[in-house]
Amino acid sequence: MHIAIDGPAASGKTSLGRALASHFGFLLVETGKMYRAVALGLDRGLPLDKIHISMNDAGRILLNNDDVSDILHTPRLDQGSSRVATRPEVRQLLVRLQQEIATGRDVVMEGRDIGTVVLPHADVKIFLQASAEERARRRASQRHQSQLDDTLREIITRDTRDQTRTIAPLNPASDATIIHTDNKSLAELVSEVIALVEERLHTGDTAAK
Ligand code: DC
Repeated sequence: MHIAIDGPAASGKTSLGRALASHFGFLLVETGKMYRAVALGLDRGLPLDKIHISMNDAGRILLNNDDVSDILHTPRLDQGSSRVATRPEVRQLLVRLQQEIATGRDVVMEGRDIGTVVLPHADVKIFLQASAEERARRRASQRHQSQLDDTLREIITRDTRDQTRTIAPLNPASDATIIHTDNKSLAELVSEVIALVEERLHTGDTAAK
């Protein structure tokens, strides 16, 4: 079973992904963290060809075998990852890694291009939408930031970059279920998607080959 979750920055992909992965006992793959880890490597002065990204069985992201999962969510890496994600050679490497991880495994994978590029045959494709203002509020409260205006500006900058890059821009797959979450609690969202996944599970024949 492959579940693809896509959507813009701070749309709730990881919260939904975590809940689904724990409910079904699937591996959660947070692909944004892989782009963040590449940006961290560049920040540390490493050339691209000396940056090796991997993921262990617990879903932790490694940069040259060093577990960096807990230091990837900073405003600097928000922008750095979105910039590095425009580079074709980076996307090619990470898409291949993500496809290898999903082969023969049940996964919940979240990102920007999962339903369109990484797992085009995913069994369930969810695309989360939420207004930039609502996403800025959520992000500011997660990170205990008081400057809502700055957070909103950063989110809009990242949205624009993610939506206008030439390779794999942020777009819902034509067969994705689009869910607007502005007026929805996480619990409501999770039960809606669990129902979709269960319906798919009962029809059999899933994509994790
Ligand atoms: O989901 P996130 O905020 O952790 O992602 C960080 C950046 O990585 C995001 O701005 C764009 C890029 N990204 C991408 O291009 N493709 C993905 N599948 C995941 C993330």
